[in-house]
Amino acid sequence: MELATIRDVAKRAGVAVSTVSRVINQSGYVGGETQRKVLSAMRELNFQPNRIARGLVSRQTSTIGLLIPDVANPFFSELSRGVEDAAIARGYSVLLCNSDWNPNRENMYINLLNGRWVDGIIVVGSRSDISVVQQVAAETPLVMVDRRSSDFEFAVWTDNRQGAMLAVRHLLEVGCERIVHIAGPMDSPSAQERRRGYEVAIQEAGMEPMFLEGDFRYASGFELVNALFQRGDVVDGIFAGNDLMAIGALQAAANLGIRVPDNLAVVGYDNIPSTHYVSPPLTTIDQPAYDMGYSAFELLYDRLSKDSPTENQQMKFEPKLVLRESTRR
Ligand code: RIB
Repeated sequence: MELATIRDVAKRAGVAVSTVSRVINQSGYVGGETQRKVLSAMRELNFQPNRIARGLVSRQTSTIGLLIPDVANPFFSELSRGVEDAAIARGYSVLLCNSDWNPNRENMYINLLNGRWVDGIIVVGSRSDISVVQQVAAETPLVMVDRRSSDFEFAVWTDNRQGAMLAVRHLLEVGCERIVHIAGPMDSPSAQERRRGYEVAIQEAGMEPMFLEGDFRYASGFELVNALFQRGDVVDGIFAGNDLMAIGALQAAANLGIRVPDNLAVVGYDNIPSTHYVSPPLTTIDQPAYDMGYSAFELLYDRLSKDSPTENQQMKFEPKLVLRESTRR
């Protein structure tokens, strides 16, 4: 079926194309009766105004760009759903871009979105130099999620250091004496903060920190833990920097015949839905992904819809420990 054009609408309503354009863009005077005729012709023909074309006139597209680091990670899917639900509720659409944890691709997308017709941008889990974010934000309203920087004020995040401390203190409470941290990649600000939280809690307990760097994906958790035990290292607690790596770690332990939680207690981070369904179910640190996404759009919307800058420029969420069988001794 062919899409109706603005000409088709004008013909059906018996008015000029310029009149239809004025109705779509809500610009200039159009009498009440004419407006009704145009709107009903649009409905009858299921006419979808081209947002780019509208943007040329109004300089607004009611579209935002959302850039996430890993489309395959359920934490980011849930967060994206929050952004999208909030956007739709306000009459906006969302263009989704995925950087695959690649800073060059992230920079490419941020600049691309800035040059296109989006009204605002939400960047999640950014690793780019903060100056790139600042530069783009000077031209297009931008909100960062899952990253906090004293050099950029519009942000939604959880306290990663606090979350890591909760995880390590819990492992200590259940009797762990040698706790390794399988961290996320060290160019990720949230991974750096979690590592700091781990170190603080381990040092408080008078223990030596032990750290391995993964990449926030299943395979790195699996491979690092496999290699750790193959080397004969003695470890009775794992704090993984996210759930995907923790699930990889659980699988490596199962293959090696290590009993979780009796001989090895494991804590993840994020509280993605599959943590309920792995064996044993995974204790983790909850981050409210959906709410973070929803709030990020609301923060952006506040900036898009008001002339004066918003007072509420930052939103911090608290991480929570969620207890399950992987640490229940
Ligand atoms: O699972 C991906 C992790 O990377 C999340 O914990 C999120 O906070 C991000 O930085």
